[in-house]
Amino acid sequence: DIPSLLMLFEEDFPIGAAVEPNQINSPSAELLKKHVRWLVAENAMKPEAMQPTEGHFQWTNADRIVEFAKENNMRVRFHTLVWHNQTGAWFFRDAEGKPMVNETDPKRREANKKLLLERLDTHVRTIVGRYKDEITSWDVVNEVIEPGDPDGMRASEWYKIAGTDYIATAFRAAREAGGPEAKLYINDYGTDNPVKRDRLFLLVKELLEQGVPIDGVGHQTHIDIYGPSVDSIIASMRKFADLGLDNLVTELDMSIYAWNDRSDYGQVPPQEILSLQADRYGELFKAFRRNKDILGGVIFWGIADDHTWLHGFPVARTNAPMLFDQQHQPKPAFWAVVEAAKAE
Ligand code: G3I
Repeated sequence: DIPSLLMLFEEDFPIGAAVEPNQINSPSAELLKKHVRWLVAENAMKPEAMQPTEGHFQWTNADRIVEFAKENNMRVRFHTLVWHNQTGAWFFRDAEGKPMVNETDPKRREANKKLLLERLDTHVRTIVGRYKDEITSWDVVNEVIEPGDPDGMRASEWYKIAGTDYIATAFRAAREAGGPEAKLYINDYGTDNPVKRDRLFLLVKELLEQGVPIDGVGHQTHIDIYGPSVDSIIASMRKFADLGLDNLVTELDMSIYAWNDRSDYGQVPPQEILSLQADRYGELFKAFRRNKDILGGVIFWGIADDHTWLHGFPVARTNAPMLFDQQHQPKPAFWAVVEAAKAE
């Protein structure tokens, strides 16, 4: 008998998964219904999907996910109101169609910034306003920290045109449109890395001091079977919890390759690799349970190995980052997580 993840961790934290709209009418739906209480859109709620051109909001795909969740007693989290990626180029063009980043005249730069923040405000209010009764957990901004860029802030068009004001604007608009029930997150990957973690911490602290309504940090947690350490993942959550913030694991998966390795095991990964993966998933979930007081949920970035962005990143190859295999059967990692749910 295969137990349900959501039941196993019922006392600890909700389990979730990212989906594409077309998975709703596929065998993946059965896995999701059994194991998952939260859904997040893998791509369907990103800026370019929601508002591909100015003023033309697209609701069909996002609505499908929201409806499927409702029919199955699941909740939805929103990913993501703001990002530097998968965002219509129109956001960053001035009234004449020129890229705002190239503007050198100070007066025009000021006008561009104002226009960009108005567009952002409209984007956020329109979407949050529409879904505020169905969605209460929001990735407001995604991946704004980049330790290699000046100031440690990602040198995106958002930042180059508006500085950190775009972050404040997005959170304030989301709070006003979503009300006090909306839980607002700043989401990023590699938050275990002390340099990145501390830069994110400083930013969040400054924004909170300015009264910007941030409720929590989303830790993407795209990890691999060799690293980073479970302790470093938990240490980061602790640091943000001490600031009074919630933590979510928002995009969990575990590549079977080291991050800088480009080899390919082919369709069937070696047993010893799957067993390493199982050990690490087990350790991770034991640590999550020990720290459930600072962890609001654990969301996987997919559900089974037949569908994962890691088949295409950093090169096209077969990866196996999830708890279920390509045939939707539980892997050693699944059973290790089941054991972790029962451990003291
Ligand atoms: O929809 C188009 C399709 O029309 C086109 O023919 C095809 C050709 O390439 O591309 C399709 O779009 C792809 C899209 O996924 C939907 O499948 C994009 O090329 C592809 O780049 C895109 O990848 C997504 C990636 O974000 C984009 O940056 C992944 O599915 C998605 O898993 C990934 O998710 C991100 C999170 O949002 C943020 N954190 C990291 C995470 C993994 O990279």
